[in-house]
Amino acid sequence: MTRTHNCGELILKDVSKKVTLSGWIASRRDHGDIIFMDLRDKHGITQVVFDPEKNAEIHKKAHELRNEYCVKIIGKVCARPEGTINKNITTGEIEIEVEKLEILSESLTPPFEIKDNITVAEDLRLKYRYLDLRRPVMQEKLLLKHKAYKSIMDFMDKEGFLFVETPVLTKSTPEGARDYLVPSRGFAGKFYALPQSPQIFKQLLMVAGVEKYFQIVRCFRDEDLRADRQPEFTQLDMEMSFVEEKDILEVCERLFKKLFSDVIGEKIKIPFKKMDYEEVVTRYGSDKPDTRFDVFLNDFTPQASSEKCSFKVFKSVADSGGRVMALAAPGYGNLSRKEIDSLTSFVGEYGAKGLAYFKVEDNALVSPISKFFDPELLKELRQLTGAKTGDMIFMVADSKETAAFSLGALRLKIGEEKALIDKKKFNFVWVVNFPLFKYNNEENKWVSEHHPFTSFKEEGMDLIEKGDFAKVVSKSYDLVLNGSEIGSGSIRIHRTDIQKKIFKVLGLTKEEYEKKFGFLLKAFKYGAPPHGGVAFGLDRIITLFTRDASIREVIPFPKTQKGTCSLTEAPSEVAEAQLKELGLRIRKKVDTK
Ligand code: AMO
Ligand code: AMP
Repeated sequence: MTRTHNCGELILKDVSKKVTLSGWIASRRDHGDIIFMDLRDKHGITQVVFDPEKNAEIHKKAHELRNEYCVKIIGKVCARPEGTINKNITTGEIEIEVEKLEILSESLTPPFEIKDNITVAEDLRLKYRYLDLRRPVMQEKLLLKHKAYKSIMDFMDKEGFLFVETPVLTKSTPEGARDYLVPSRGFAGKFYALPQSPQIFKQLLMVAGVEKYFQIVRCFRDEDLRADRQPEFTQLDMEMSFVEEKDILEVCERLFKKLFSDVIGEKIKIPFKKMDYEEVVTRYGSDKPDTRFDVFLNDFTPQASSEKCSFKVFKSVADSGGRVMALAAPGYGNLSRKEIDSLTSFVGEYGAKGLAYFKVEDNALVSPISKFFDPELLKELRQLTGAKTGDMIFMVADSKETAAFSLGALRLKIGEEKALIDKKKFNFVWVVNFPLFKYNNEENKWVSEHHPFTSFKEEGMDLIEKGDFAKVVSKSYDLVLNGSEIGSGSIRIHRTDIQKKIFKVLGLTKEEYEKKFGFLLKAFKYGAPPHGGVAFGLDRIITLFTRDASIREVIPFPKTQKGTCSLTEAPSEVAEAQLKELGLRIRKKVDTK
């Protein structure tokens, strides 16, 4: 037998038992002749003792042991002497007097210590992920993820959802990223695409009469990576027939209540708050508002276009349909010129062409541009922003999105810098009433705000017929938690004629949409039920549980920021023969842009 107990369970009442433990040498301490070692397995740590007076032969053998050797020991449980008790661990009152030692596997010196707190470059951790995952803190994350998946599975089962698999080798799905392509050997020159989501298949499952579908499923997207984005990530994907928006939101709220209680013992309040897209953009400067702190954006456009303002930049933006937005930054009144310049560059990264500022004093708003503002107007600005003495009012004039999103980014920066965010909170918000379309200036065309299968509010058809695309409001919803978009969904279009109209707005010709989505349009002709659904980014949710800065921390084998696997060194070149079989040739210069 390799073990009678694990390394996290023996306590005082086990004293004098003969036990067998297996695990890894976590550390060793030589105290004169006696050697102490910590033996670690996934359950915990147990101290083992090699005493030359009790067993000279084993003591001698113990000198061979190095950190991370995998060993089996047989020995007797003893109470630790007074003064050597460790209250921090379960097994802290006992130790094992080793009688037999077997080295199961030697270890090279690991590139970093296998313990919780280490300062090691992430790339090295990823290269030796199997050692990184051996660290107790990482084992806890694996366990937490397992608990979360189990909680979800149990909930979905109870609610009558059916787990159905969908293909991984498939055809392009439009979620707005680039596809990962897999060449076909049987049909040289043709490719499968890895799914960006199971979107189309789950809709087909509704046509198939499944009524309540779910899946914990891997999705693949070739897009610029960030802390909360991986090229392959996991969704909790679901879809329901014969439902309205309200029914879907309610299921999700019940799910989150159970999930948070099961996994982290947190009692969350449902129903969640609902906010309009328009409101979150103009008040928080984001479509995923962090509602944990009260600094707000304010719309100063009407005032800026009035007689009382003569600042040309603001007037021209206001008069040409843009927005002039203002935000009072608490306690920022004493910024130096250099610090203001640095904030100006910061908002510049979000497209803002400038950052106007007013230092808030007892009886004045001081700014190089205050001369362009009527005293009445300065009062209005102070009132609107709720600014107090010692604050700084920042303003951006630009298109609605640029003005709002750049100040929104500044808002988050302020929240962090001034520690205004209560990190213990879990603030959920449903963002609803998104526009159905947005205009893509680079490509000069209308694109879907979510995806092309999203349905819209009743008056939408008239607006589409009139070509007033910007005003169409979708039946979609995003779930935002602490400023992170954790899920997104919608009621879908289930009629072929309407779906075709949407494809047309998106600039697809009949040939194009028939070729790409003909099979879906055809399926809708066979009694498609009304349906809707949602998908949650599980890696993001788990990261909010663990409070890590990046989703890479909760993915067992993640990709680096560049999309590579440090462990296997994927992506890698393939043999010429493989390429030939696939009918592929590598061009000399690969343009990665
Ligand atoms: P969407 O594209 O919004 O919707 O994706 C749903 C959720 O998945 C998470 N997510 C990601 N997580 C990690 N890395 C990524 N690269 C990544 N991309 C997305 C986010 C997001 O909210 N089919 C639709 C859902 C539907 O309409 O039912 C979809 O995939 O948390
Ligand atoms: P200027 O007239 O360009 O010297 O700008 C005067 C002030 O207005 C500076 O603080 C600029 O940063 C600011 N400013 C210029 N353009 C904008 C804009 N679009 N939005 C907000 N502030 C601006």
